[in-house]
Amino acid sequence: MKERNFKPSGRNDFIDIMLELKQKGNLVGESIEQKNADGSPQIVDVELTNLLITAQIFMFFGAGFETSSTAASYALHQLAYNPEYQDIVRSEIDQVLAKHSNKITYDAIVEMKCLKMVFYESLRMYPSVGFLYRTCTVPKYTFPEINLTINEGVKIMIPVQAIQRDEKYFDNPNMFNPERFKSGLGEQKQKFVFLPFGEGPRACVASKLGLMQSLAGLAAVLQKFTVEPAACSVKYPKSEPTGSVTERFADGLPLKIRKRVI
Ligand code: HEM
Repeated sequence: MKERNFKPSGRNDFIDIMLELKQKGNLVGESIEQKNADGSPQIVDVELTNLLITAQIFMFFGAGFETSSTAASYALHQLAYNPEYQDIVRSEIDQVLAKHSNKITYDAIVEMKCLKMVFYESLRMYPSVGFLYRTCTVPKYTFPEINLTINEGVKIMIPVQAIQRDEKYFDNPNMFNPERFKSGLGEQKQKFVFLPFGEGPRACVASKLGLMQSLAGLAAVLQKFTVEPAACSVKYPKSEPTGSVTERFADGLPLKIRKRVI
């Protein structure tokens, strides 16, 4: 920001957008947390300080890159161990790109249906964000299903990975099976059990961008290379319990990458 003299520089990037917003004055909008007595959202007024801008940039950087790269890495890991799917996905990529002058464009990626199924299935088995957190914002809330009441301020953890590997919701949950996403977002037995992008008003703000950039990255790799397990690869890699922004694997996800002979 200092380099740009705290003014938009014409680079049209995220920092410029933040600086442009700041120039327009305080942000005014409907609160998703604070409500008026009649239940309507309160109108709130926020000053975009340099600290707040820095926090937004940090959040977008962490939330925007780590999530997509973790998910795309795990998808490659699964494709290395499931070469039959790798072949299916690769021939789809080849066919689609042939129609689009070999350019990985938005329109081309939208046509890569099998790649998207593989990506969703990878996100089901290893969601980049393993837990969601919520805080109770009403004086008392009772979960009707279990008749449990919690008070305002109580923090809740939603174990996304455990839910997405529960056989109550997904048959053979430990099996990599992209077919379960054949009809869009799957044959879920229940709503809200596939949560890689969260849910509700605080769900991921950029799920479509995350999906697109991950699929574009996967298509770019698979167009030119094949992936195979390396000597040190582990089929069921152990999670690193101290992973923070995103899930991490204790020993990474080593793979052998081979240039395709076309
Ligand atoms: C495959 C890619 C991605 C995955 C799996 C993912 C996942 C998530 C999840 C699980 C949450 C929390 C949702 C909740 O609590 O209900 C979240 C929030 C968020 N994500 Fe993503 N994300 C991805 C890509 C991105 C990208 C590309 C950006 C930005 C460029 C981004 C920006 C954010 C932001 C700013 C939030 C916080 C929203 C809020 O608190 O209101 N994410 N994301």
